[in-house]
Amino acid sequence: MSQHKKEVKRVTTHTLQSMKNEGEKISMLTAYDYSMARIIDAAGIDVILVGDSASNVMAGHETTLPITLDQMIYHAQSVVRAVKRALVVVDLPFGTYQGDSKMALKSAIRIMKESGAHAIKMEGGPEIKESIKRILSAGVPVMGHLGLTPQSIYKFGTYTVRAKEEMEAKKLVEDSIFLEKMGCFGIVLEKIPAQLATSVAQKLSIPVIGIGAGGGLDGQVLVVHDLLGITKDFHPRFLRRYLELFDTIKTAVESYAQDIKSGDFPNEKEQY
Ligand code: KIV
Repeated sequence: MSQHKKEVKRVTTHTLQSMKNEGEKISMLTAYDYSMARIIDAAGIDVILVGDSASNVMAGHETTLPITLDQMIYHAQSVVRAVKRALVVVDLPFGTYQGDSKMALKSAIRIMKESGAHAIKMEGGPEIKESIKRILSAGVPVMGHLGLTPQSIYKFGTYTVRAKEEMEAKKLVEDSIFLEKMGCFGIVLEKIPAQLATSVAQKLSIPVIGIGAGGGLDGQVLVVHDLLGITKDFHPRFLRRYLELFDTIKTAVESYAQDIKSGDFPNEKEQY
């Protein structure tokens, strides 16, 4: 009998491609810290995204713009320490890759070297062509992100559904094909009409993962705080909440505080 523990088979970009080829759906979820990433990985999620949504749900900012490269690396390091199976993808934060491909490469290399993550994600199409090209040429796998790209929120003005108009829909299809041709291993499509998203997934041979883009794609991604009901008062149509943890945790913490005040905690069995 082998003395080695049975190794967990890691998910790679090639695994995701095989899943697309075989019609197996890809599960993707965000994580930003060790403890949550450990649970998510143990649950068998295929891709863990260290999203720049950390700016919202971890740091309390209104947008994803303020988070820095150092902060993303800190989150990515914590997640990578926990993960045994999932592919770990990290968002390049706003201002670290647009308009300067050398800076983009430096940012991507810092993430890969300092965190041990497996791939990076970038928002945009042909406008960030040089940055994608340079990063790919260094051997770093790149995931694209089109549709509602939160780093451009001040250009869009609102978080409403994108690409409802014909011109924007046409550009989204062209940009998706462009990203595949560039060599991206996958694309996230955020908050666009389901029919359009499905047609993109059918046109492309690489995996297309959706958030608010309907069920016709190769996989789905959500922000873990939304799925668990930790975020309060956020109820977009696309979100399915599996728990209401805000209320559950609040009730538990209220009981704890009450038990301290009443002198019930700690009791005799809870002391030395
Ligand atoms: O940052 C993030 O969490 C994301 C997902 C919404 C796709 O980019």
